[in-house]
This record gives sequence, structure tokens and C-alpha cells, in this order.
Amino acid sequence: SSRYSIVKLFDRQDRLWDSVKLLNEARFLFFFWGNKKENRSEWPRSDGSREHSQKKSCRPSPPMSFLLLETESDKLVGHARACLLPNRPTACWVESVLIRKDHRGKGLGKFLMTEVEKWLRTNGFDEGYLSTDDQVEFYQHCGYEKCAPILHSTVSTSVFPICALLQENPPPEET
Ligand code: ACO
Repeated sequence: SSRYSIVKLFDRQDRLWDSVKLLNEARFLFFFWGNKKENRSEWPRSDGSREHSQKKSCRPSPPMSFLLLETESDKLVGHARACLLPNRPTACWVESVLIRKDHRGKGLGKFLMTEVEKWLRTNGFDEGYLSTDDQVEFYQHCGYEKCAPILHSTVSTSVFPICALLQENPPPEET
């Protein structure tokens, strides 16, 4: 899908504020329509604290943010962040995975996760963990499976993590 490309936020620092807005728009949707989700630890944050964490992940290696851009229009349609984990030098914690609302259900979330995984694998990482309460099926479709809780120390705290381990075999190459 050359219609879309994955870039490091580090290489597109001009889109930092755009990515803050994208992540916080999701927060407002949850706030108005998901009365349970407003308690989620990851999303209800101010522009200021979001900007702070985006600046911290504006790096060429984890903790780092990835942006999904529509190639032709250069529109920002997705985001994912890979962080380091304590005592697991070759593992990453993946968080703040988001596809812009009107672009969901077209395979872009899976494309984003596949590309992030590819980057991590080619840069010395062999395990990926994440936590989700309501997107378990999406991550199963991305090849993740449930595992025992692990220790992490990212900016977002999750109390009951459902973690997932990357597949032993990398997913098939994009055509
Ligand atoms: N339930 C069941 N299956 C699903 C769901 C779901 N809610 N969402 C996606 N899938 C399946 C799709 O059917 C598809 O199946 P396939 O592989 O057989 O074709 C596969 O998962 C991939 O779906 P995509 O179209 O790539 O998913 P999308 O682009 O819609 O992105 C995402 C999914 C990122 C979860 C999007 O819905 C989103 O941004 N949601 C709001 C933010 C959010 O909840 N993010 C995750 C937070 S957890 C974290 O960051 C670690």
C-alpha cells in the first residue's frame, strides 16, 4: 500500500503538533461517547502533557513515535509509539496506537502495526508487548496473543494489562 507510508516522528518533526491533536481528538470522542473509557489511563490527557510525551518520543530509536501518512496528501492518519521496557533490552512496549476515525476498518491499523513491528525487528528488537481492554480482537488479527502481565514504566500506567507477545514468525511481507 504505497498510498500510505510510515515515518518516524523524528523525521517529520513538523507534524508534532498535528499528532498531539490527533491523539487528543480520540480523547474527546471517548469523553463524550464512552463513559467508561473516560477513565482510561492512556487517553484523558491535556494537549500540554501530550505534547510533552510526543517530544520525549521524537527520537530515532525507542521511545519513539511513528506516523502513518497518506502519501499523496501528506495527511496524518495514524500514530503508534514504541517504548523501552525495564529489564528487557530487546523488547518494546507499544502504545497510543490510533487510526483517524474516518480511515478505520480499511486495514490501516494492521498495516501500521506490521510496519512498526518490521522496524523493531530490523533494529534489534524481538518482542513486543501492549495493553488493551477493548481492542483485543484487533491485536489478535495483528498476530498478538495474550500473555502474563509484565512490568513496564512508560508515561501511561495501566492497572490490569493484557499483554501480548509478537509471533515467532514475522507476518508475510506487504505486497
Ligand atoms: N473487533 C474485531 N475485529 C477488529 C476490530 C474490532 N474492534 N478492529 C479491527 N478488527 C480486525 C479487522 O476486522 C481486521 O481483520 P482482518 O485482518 O481479518 O482483515 C483487522 O482487525 C485489522 O483491522 P484494521 O482495519 O487494520 O483496523 P483499523 O484500521 O480500524 O485500526 C484501531 C484499529 C487502531 C484499533 C482503530 O480502531 C482505532 O484507532 N481505535 C481507537 C483507538 C484505540 O482504541 N487504539 C488502541 C488502543 S490500545 C494501544 O494503543 C496499545
